[in-house]
Amino acid sequence: MGDSKFLIAGNWKMNKTIAEAKEFAAKFRGMMPDDGDGVAIVAPFTQLQALKEAFSGTKVMIGAQNVHYEASGAYTGEISVKMLKELGVDCCVIGHSERRQYFNETDEALNKKLRVLLDSGITPILCVGEPLEVREKNEQMGFVGGQLFEDLKGLDPLDVRKIVIAYEPIWAIGTGKTATPEQADDMCGFIHSIVAGYCGDEAAAGLKVLYGGSMKPGNAEQLLRQEGIHGGLIGGASLSPESFCDICDIAAKLNRE
Ligand code: PGA
Repeated sequence: MGDSKFLIAGNWKMNKTIAEAKEFAAKFRGMMPDDGDGVAIVAPFTQLQALKEAFSGTKVMIGAQNVHYEASGAYTGEISVKMLKELGVDCCVIGHSERRQYFNETDEALNKKLRVLLDSGITPILCVGEPLEVREKNEQMGFVGGQLFEDLKGLDPLDVRKIVIAYEPIWAIGTGKTATPEQADDMCGFIHSIVAGYCGDEAAAGLKVLYGGSMKPGNAEQLLRQEGIHGGLIGGASLSPESFCDICDIAAKLNRE
């Protein structure tokens, strides 16, 4: 997971060809701080091998954006944990709101995905977050608490602390509308307290809770300075090596403070 107290994960979503990923990697490798410690790039399946090669010998982690919970079989279009392991994938985002919304990724499936990822040693980055109508009714804690309750159900408490949890309010994703640092910190602290209730304060001490939703160089420092926020899941601003590196530089600076 690296030594940095922050994890800055770029979520490329359905963007970039292999050639474009290589071009990004060549530029980013030349400018990233601390040999890429505490940095992850979460890319489409087709780019994973090229990215692993391009970042070999560095600390940059490479992640997938989905996985199937069955080991193999008749699941056309799906990718198993073993296939990700073979590529040396370090982490895997699951439960992103786009996948929950457009691809019917359910909490029940997420619970199974968490189990297979944890068994394989690939770090899950589990996304949770409320839609706007829930926030407007001020019911976001109950909503996110409910997602976590279902997603973490029955998992070994010693495993739960290995999960990275990303709080992404749906109304802030790709909208340019960021949660205020206080709103983000409140929820990230709440998530921490749920996990601490599940696996104990000591085990939860090293848990990483990220914020995601229109994080960019201009607002990253304020967000990352919040006590409960240990990094970011960055969509739009991770597509250019310059803006992604600016956010990584901010985290590296705060890490040294
Ligand atoms: P955004 O996306 O930074 O473009 O808002 C974040 C995400 O969906 O992970």
